[in-house]
Amino acid sequence: MLARGPAPLDLAGAPPYRRAMTRPTPDSILIVDFGSQVTQLIARRVREAGVYCEIAPFTLAEEAFRRMAPGGIILSGSPAGVPEEGSPRAPQVLFDSGLPILGICYGQQVMTHQLGGTVEAGRDGEWDGEFGRAFLTVTRDCALFDGLWQVGDRHQVWMSHGDKVTRFAPGFEIVATSDGAPFAVIADEARRYYGTQFHPEVVHTPDGAKLLANFVHRVCGLAGDWTMAAYRETKVADIRAQVGSGRVICGLSGGVDSSVAAILIHEAVGDQLTCVFVDHGLLRMNEREQVERLFRDHYNIPLVVVDAEERFMAGLAGVTDPEAKRKFIGAEFVAVFEEEAVKLGGADFLAQGTLYPDVIESVSFTGGPSVTIKSHHNVGGLPERMNMKLVEPLRELFKDEVRALGRELGLPESMIRRHPFPGPGLAIRVPGEITREKLDILRKADAIYLEEIDQAGLYDQIWQAFAVLLPVKTVGVMGDYRTYDHVCALRAVTSTDGMTADFYPFEPAFLGRVATRIINQVRGINRVVYDYTSKPPGTIEWE
Ligand code: XMP
Repeated sequence: MLARGPAPLDLAGAPPYRRAMTRPTPDSILIVDFGSQVTQLIARRVREAGVYCEIAPFTLAEEAFRRMAPGGIILSGSPAGVPEEGSPRAPQVLFDSGLPILGICYGQQVMTHQLGGTVEAGRDGEWDGEFGRAFLTVTRDCALFDGLWQVGDRHQVWMSHGDKVTRFAPGFEIVATSDGAPFAVIADEARRYYGTQFHPEVVHTPDGAKLLANFVHRVCGLAGDWTMAAYRETKVADIRAQVGSGRVICGLSGGVDSSVAAILIHEAVGDQLTCVFVDHGLLRMNEREQVERLFRDHYNIPLVVVDAEERFMAGLAGVTDPEAKRKFIGAEFVAVFEEEAVKLGGADFLAQGTLYPDVIESVSFTGGPSVTIKSHHNVGGLPERMNMKLVEPLRELFKDEVRALGRELGLPESMIRRHPFPGPGLAIRVPGEITREKLDILRKADAIYLEEIDQAGLYDQIWQAFAVLLPVKTVGVMGDYRTYDHVCALRAVTSTDGMTADFYPFEPAFLGRVATRIINQVRGINRVVYDYTSKPPGTIEWE
């Protein structure tokens, strides 16, 4: 159970769950999601062990199981409790399949319950559950521990449960125990069923990744040959099969996802692909030139660069509300893109760099509609209107896997390491009204900040760093003159997925150096401040 703590923010506008790989993948693992906040980490660990896996919500697990024909199954944790009425169950077909199953936390409990054991709810006073670090003792050998844990060992694990197993199902035995969970790990070696009360997928279980690797390699017997080289080959064949002799257009943002998608598609279908890069005038310093150089000169990929600065600036004149800015930019972007597609004589396919986290349908136990924090823009709606089909060659990959694929495709390191940049660009980093003058000031400050970060060797430790130009002027003194100029805020955060983030703890001397350079070299800024806000409660961007 991972119920304590805030519910995850739903990604506004995330596409509904659709099938990822369409053919059977017997070398894979099916992860059944019961709504735990860390289900994606199970997938990360399995893939790090070189095994392809997919996450399916429990409601769609049977369909995924039949389609994938996987080599093993993992049941995730959940904020729900097995004894609660209406709490989720695993489809019976999984237990009838004869495949190895690993149940984690709720997964262990639901497996116990469905196979004839007992799970009891935590009761205030007598048993409040076990949350955080715990130590377990290994009491018997089992395949899950092979080459890793021995009888008598004590190991740190991470627990998060209120309910617990009080009687295991026939065929099982206890193989490890902890103070709070006598059934910390249970195993039915004959059926190759394992259950852990703790979470092996989180970093606070130091041997957790190795335990999961043991499950997929030793218990399920899967080879671990899921590599980016193999993925590249499979995807190129898939894209050729899907696209045939059709025409594809791909919107480039200058970011790593759309770049990798475009280069992969180009490898598959060559000049049947045309890339479109919309310069909305809200880009960072030299961004457009970098994209042109990479795609046109280096890869020789047909590229249309649309100079749309005028119309974006005209439409944004006088707009100060963040959502109004985002809505306008999103709609205008789609309009520009559509016009270019028509000019190109239309296309049969639209390529998008959709990633796996956007595809996974998370199981929501919070009820009620999700709240839109910010509307993220993409070219939604366009494919249907223009009768185009989607090509999404990255939809099975996590962000760092996309980077690995980019390296495999020979993309320059400077592009692969790039921090994410939002679709609305600098517009959401100029609170208040946007003008060309403000954008120019911001671009200069941002470039200095990023250059200093790079020179200090900090770029790769930071998820995203950027400058924000505040609509506030303050008084300063430079030489013998009084100044009255803008405040520039610096933001840098660490994150793994952009959903939560922490401010980056720069040394004061570093921030001092950046502030001095910006104030000295950028006319229009006379004060620099640093943003010490995490997400939540803040967001990464300022608007
Ligand atoms: P927030 O500001 O919501 O941002 O904490 C989370 C991550 O998303 C990026 N972001 C966007 N990306 N279109 C995008 O493609 C958008 O409209 C957009 N808004 C925010 C942001 O830069 C951060 O990485």
